[in-house]
Amino acid sequence: MRASHLEEYYQFLRFPSISTDPDSADKVAECAHWLVEKLTAIGLEAKLMPTPGHPVVWAKNKHQPGRKTVMIYGHYDVQPPDPLELWDSPPFDPVLKDGYVFARGSTDNKGQILAHIFGVQETIEKDGDLPVNLHFVIEGEEEIGSGNLGNFLTQNLDALKCDVVVVSDTGMVAKGTPTLSYGLRGVTALEIKITSAKMDLHSGMFGGAVANPITALAQLLATLHDKNGHVAIEGFYDKVKPLEDWERKAWRELPLDGDKEILDETGSPALFGEEGYSTLERLWARPTAEINGIGGGYQGAGTKTVIASHAMAKLTFRLVPNQLGEDILELAKAHLRKHLPPGVTMEITDGHSGPWYLTDPHSGVGQAAQRALREAFDGKEPALIREGGSIPITSQFRTILGVETLLLGLALADCRAHSPNENFPLENLDAGIRLNKAILKELAQ
Ligand code: BES
Ligand code: MN
Repeated sequence: MRASHLEEYYQFLRFPSISTDPDSADKVAECAHWLVEKLTAIGLEAKLMPTPGHPVVWAKNKHQPGRKTVMIYGHYDVQPPDPLELWDSPPFDPVLKDGYVFARGSTDNKGQILAHIFGVQETIEKDGDLPVNLHFVIEGEEEIGSGNLGNFLTQNLDALKCDVVVVSDTGMVAKGTPTLSYGLRGVTALEIKITSAKMDLHSGMFGGAVANPITALAQLLATLHDKNGHVAIEGFYDKVKPLEDWERKAWRELPLDGDKEILDETGSPALFGEEGYSTLERLWARPTAEINGIGGGYQGAGTKTVIASHAMAKLTFRLVPNQLGEDILELAKAHLRKHLPPGVTMEITDGHSGPWYLTDPHSGVGQAAQRALREAFDGKEPALIREGGSIPITSQFRTILGVETLLLGLALADCRAHSPNENFPLENLDAGIRLNKAILKELAQ
């Protein structure tokens, strides 16, 4: 690893480019500027494209007729670092320990996108050009649902014409095992606010006379699942595409023990999920309803005899083929309204939404991806998997640009993405540089 690569990786990681936090907007913009400068310095024509939200960074080499055109997509925004006290070192002050860089965004997605940039840099230094026409599209709103990227694609449709999209923002089944992901879950979000009285109440003067919104919320949320982890919303599974036999078999034969790995990594006392499916099947091919946050009432030290006026919860649903986000939101809202306990009112606000993605790992470009993965990882056979996370824009690459997306991830199971002590091994940054060179070469054919 070149010393300058490491130094630039650190520079990139030092920007707290937290897209969801309005107070970080300046830092998000500074991070985008840094990328434009870096991409310009390696010989690309790079520019900042403003959106109603955070800017998109767009760079290209000089395109020549007759060559294949590849878009490499990634994101420079990160999730909030909270809870801060659980980090062993400050989240935006990267440190190297035992070959791993620790910082928010080290894996998701700064390390992975920078590996592509370094790969392109090294190829241009060596050959003077790339084997393909290239677009880098690096956005600042992936972690909040990519709400403005669809319009960016539509507005620049002609200029962005390409043959395929390459993304490194997914995982590997194990360190050293190249992995091609051919499916992602989608996600759709909503927020509930339950209100009883118009103000907080003395629980002695009013307790027993009016409903408690926190109790009502707890009762309501408990109706989302049955005892076996099955989502109890009517119609929720109606459009779910059953797993193919070949997938169930292939996933059983993968070189990973999903159950053991998840128990070790999470420290949970036991696994729990929908009955009738293996852990990997539940993660990669089954939908979920999750409560991501809950609030209401007194949170300070000691006790307070109060009945809160409001209670709130944030929910998301992971979607799988062929569920539609809008349908699921409607079904969920109908369920919540139907099961709302008496004596309270409820307001529901829709959040961001992104569809699932499923492609064919054996297509022409899928096979090129497999060859590139073998080349970058010492001839090792790539694992073909689906994943539980979401990259909302992938389905729009298909519907707007008409192209498929290759998901060549470099994240490890213990990378702690979205969590304290996020980390990325330099070994994978290096592998990503090799992978970039191999994939551009393979896609040029
Ligand atoms: N890199 C992840 C997506 C991912 C995670 C793919 C794990 C495969 C395995 C991405 O940056 C991400 O976290 N996306 C969000 C999107 C959401 C906020 C709309 C997600 O999945 O929660
Ligand atoms: Mn993420």
